[in-house]
Amino acid sequence: MDAEHDLEELATMVASLRRHLQRRERARIRNLPIDRGADGKAPEASQASWLRGLEGGLFSDDREAYRATSLEELRAAIGDCRRCKLWPGRTHLVFGVGNPRARVMFIGEGPGRDEDLQGEPFVGRAGQLLTDIIVKGMGLRREDVYIANVIKCRPPENRNPEPDEVEACEPFLLKQIELIKPRVIVALGKFAVQTLLKTKVPIMRLRGVWHEFNGIKIMPTLHPAYLLRNPGDKKLVWQDIKKVIKEFQPPVM
Ligand code: URA
Repeated sequence: MDAEHDLEELATMVASLRRHLQRRERARIRNLPIDRGADGKAPEASQASWLRGLEGGLFSDDREAYRATSLEELRAAIGDCRRCKLWPGRTHLVFGVGNPRARVMFIGEGPGRDEDLQGEPFVGRAGQLLTDIIVKGMGLRREDVYIANVIKCRPPENRNPEPDEVEACEPFLLKQIELIKPRVIVALGKFAVQTLLKTKVPIMRLRGVWHEFNGIKIMPTLHPAYLLRNPGDKKLVWQDIKKVIKEFQPPVM
C-alpha cells in the first residue's frame, strides 16, 4: 500500500515536472542565469515574508514576477503570457482590478466571456451579483476591494480550469496577494479556496468558517455563478459575508 502511494506521488511529481518543462519550452526559456554579485552570492529578492525562497521553485520561470514590487510591475512581468495552453483563445488577459491596498480581496475562478472581452474580472451576470454583495451587502464600493481570479485567461466554453493551467497561473495570484496584503480574502467557490488551501475538501464543508493562508484570514463562500443557478443558497453567502463584516467592526474603511 505504501509503495503504491509512493508510486502515485512520484507520478504526480513527474507530471508536474513535465508541465513545468513544457511551460519553459513554450515561453522559450532555455536558461535562467542568476545574477551574482562580486561575492558570488545571488542577490536577495525584495520579498516580504512568505514568498521568500520560491524563486527557484514556484517562480523558477518568472524571476521578474517574483521580484515585482507593485501590481504594475507584476502585470508587466506577466506580459503577453503564453505559459499555458489558454493563451490562443483569449481576447484579454484578466489580471485583476481594485484598490492595490485593499483590506478585502475577492478571488474567483477564471474569466468568463464578458470578462475576457472587457479585460476585467466579474463584470458579467455573476459579477453583478458580486458587486451587489460588495455594495449592498458590505457597504463598500468595488474600488475599495481588490478582485482577481485564480487563472487569468478564459478557458474555452467556460470549462473548469485544468491543473496545468492553475499551476501556471498560481504564482501570479500569490504575488498579487503578497503585494496587496489584504487582511481578509473571500474565496469565491471551490477553485479559489482549494487552490489556496491545497485541499480537496468540498466547498460546502469549507465555507462559512475562517481559514488561514500565510497569516491572512480566508473566508470561503459560494461562487456567485452558483448562486445564479441556486438562488436559495444566497442566505448561506450572506451568513459568510456577515462574518467578514464583523471582522471589520468597528468599520475601518
Ligand atoms: N467567474 C469568475 O470566477 N471570475 C470572473 O471573473 C467571472 C466569473
